[in-house]
Amino acid sequence: MDIFEKVAGNMGPLGQYADQGFGYYSFPKLEGEISNHMFFRGKPVLVWSLNNYLGLANHPEIRKADTEASAQFGLAAPMGARMMSGQTNYHEQLERELAAFENKESAYLLNFGYMGMVSIIDSMLDRHDVVVYDSESHACILDGLRLHIGKRFVFKHNDLENFETQIKHARKVADTTGGGILVITEGVFGMPGDLGNLKGILQFKAKYGFRLLVDDAHGFGTMGSTGAGTSQEQQVMDGVDVYFGTFAKAMAGIGAFVATERRIIKALTYNMRSQIYAKSLPLPMVVGSLKRLDMIRTHPELREKLWIIVAALQSGLREKGFDIGKTQSPVTPVFLQGGPIEATQVIADLRENYGIFCSGVIYPVVPKGVIMLRLIPTAAHTLEDVTVTIAAFAEVKKKLDEGKYSSVSIPALADKF
Ligand SMILES: Cc1ncc(COP(=O)(O)O)c(C=O)c1O
Repeated sequence: MDIFEKVAGNMGPLGQYADQGFGYYSFPKLEGEISNHMFFRGKPVLVWSLNNYLGLANHPEIRKADTEASAQFGLAAPMGARMMSGQTNYHEQLERELAAFENKESAYLLNFGYMGMVSIIDSMLDRHDVVVYDSESHACILDGLRLHIGKRFVFKHNDLENFETQIKHARKVADTTGGGILVITEGVFGMPGDLGNLKGILQFKAKYGFRLLVDDAHGFGTMGSTGAGTSQEQQVMDGVDVYFGTFAKAMAGIGAFVATERRIIKALTYNMRSQIYAKSLPLPMVVGSLKRLDMIRTHPELREKLWIIVAALQSGLREKGFDIGKTQSPVTPVFLQGGPIEATQVIADLRENYGIFCSGVIYPVVPKGVIMLRLIPTAAHTLEDVTVTIAAFAEVKKKLDEGKYSSVSIPALADKF
């Protein structure tokens, strides 16, 4: 078999609808300044699909800081990997400030959260160690685990009873191999928006003995009294042994960080292959991230505004009878009943006739027969945006319940790849 024939003939679970979806349902282009109102295919849309939680992406102070840093340093600096020639005072300063913000001894920057997480897991474990992880963990955690050759046990999503069953198995194995146990979960689960039960998990720490690694990509900057994340929200900052956050969401940037004890950061620094063998984060992003962190610390009103929008959107949807699952974070899923045809019709109707742009997923991301629309409220939204959206959702749901979408064929909306 020719490799090219095989690759082109098997598009995988996400690519199977590429011909019907490209440019519309997948790889859509949102144009214009990043805000609550942008353009999709030339038409204005109210956007609910950007992880710009605090509205920093287009904040004038952030734009100014980014522009000045780019003018001063260019995008090339520093050249090389951190270990070889890519170390700067700015990288170190950002790490000190992030560590202080997270109440940890030390922190280290990661070029991409995804690659960083893969390497955190890879460099902390050997074949004697055992991992216990939540079944709905993000791809970066699952891909890190692909590199782990020791035992692993998965617990049912946020189910403490099942967690105890799995940690008991893990303890037995670790006692035989002489290895340690790493528990991995998320702060905010990015699709359903519920919180990892960090406090609940930590109740078992003394009995079974493990270290806890938390991916708080969606919680950093949005959760907790100062925005330090889900561990702060649940008052377990000290119990979380390794805290991971990304700049790609509340910070509206790129890059990520890990924060923990100094001796562990020292070891990670010399062992995370995705960081050792890759170029250092560009200086404008580092300087821009210093500014973003400063905004998170000094402008709590951005987080307050975010939560006003979150409360209005979530309570408004619930009042209209929508099922928004178990979210406890800004992430707002809306669960509807229907198959792929209804899902494409609902999303297209919202975009074309109501001017509302949100993302939606179907099986295999959610069970068969379920459509999950996902709304990301931000500090850049207004209460008027919320009212308009809830009214549109109510109309669309009525049409769906009346079976108005099932008879229509999928419109030819896709672009040519
Ligand atoms: C839970 C979670 N972890 C990690 C990542 C990866 O972060 P980054 O975009 O910095 O690679 C994401 C982003 O999609 C995420 O949602």
